[in-house]
Amino acid sequence: MQSELPNMKIRKAIESDCPGIARVQVDSYRTAYAPIFPQEYLDHFTYEEQEGDWRGLLASADQGTVLYVAVDDADEVIGYALGAPSSEMPPYESELVALHVCQTYQGQDVGRQLVAAVSAALYAQGCQSLFLWVLADNPARAFYEKLGGVLVGKKPWENNEYFKLDIYEMAYGWPDIHKLAGPSGS
Ligand SMILES: CC(C)(COP(=O)(O)OP(=O)(O)OC[C@H]1O[C@@H](n2cnc3c(N)ncnc32)[C@H](O)[C@@H]1OP(=O)(O)O)[C@@H](O)C(=O)NCCC(=O)NCCS
Repeated sequence: MQSELPNMKIRKAIESDCPGIARVQVDSYRTAYAPIFPQEYLDHFTYEEQEGDWRGLLASADQGTVLYVAVDDADEVIGYALGAPSSEMPPYESELVALHVCQTYQGQDVGRQLVAAVSAALYAQGCQSLFLWVLADNPARAFYEKLGGVLVGKKPWENNEYFKLDIYEMAYGWPDIHKLAGPSGS
């Protein structure tokens, strides 16, 4: 698919992106997760606190952790993706930990390009494969299936007990991360 956003750029995140990443994250939680989680849970997330978490992550991240942003022509963050090497789901060697695209920019190839950038960076550091967790009721599952992901696991959501919910997460895997990284693999 041809990108409909010719001025959109994907680049590694820097500290000054943290407010924008937090804004995209919290807005995305409040919209995409509203049909899945109770309001009480979603109300826990604030721009300020998430910005602090992102600053902390960037300051202390392991060398293998990769955080990419998609920015518009004014260098405002419109999406982000976080990945890291992982041994949680052998034989998969890395995890896509988070992926969010601002609602107004969805359906314009930003998500796919963010996944490609993170996959290429993980591949460059030796990771051959990738997996991720996605909420069972999240329509984003169709996006991951479109990218060729196969179902490889299921687990209860980690806060089920605390919030008295019955929510599950599904794992999708890509045995060959190189395919996600794009034709050049870089
Ligand atoms: C999931 C998400 C990242 C996808 O990003 P996006 O920029 O909208 O997706 P893209 O435009 O790159 O889509 C790539 C392909 O997947 C398809 N696709 C994307 N979302 C889809 C959906 N919900 N259902 C069906 N197909 C979908 C697109 O139509 C496109 O198909 P094509 O190859 O035929 O053109 C975005 O919708 C999002 O941020 N959702 C809210 C947050 C979220 O749930 N994140 C995932 C947490 S695990």
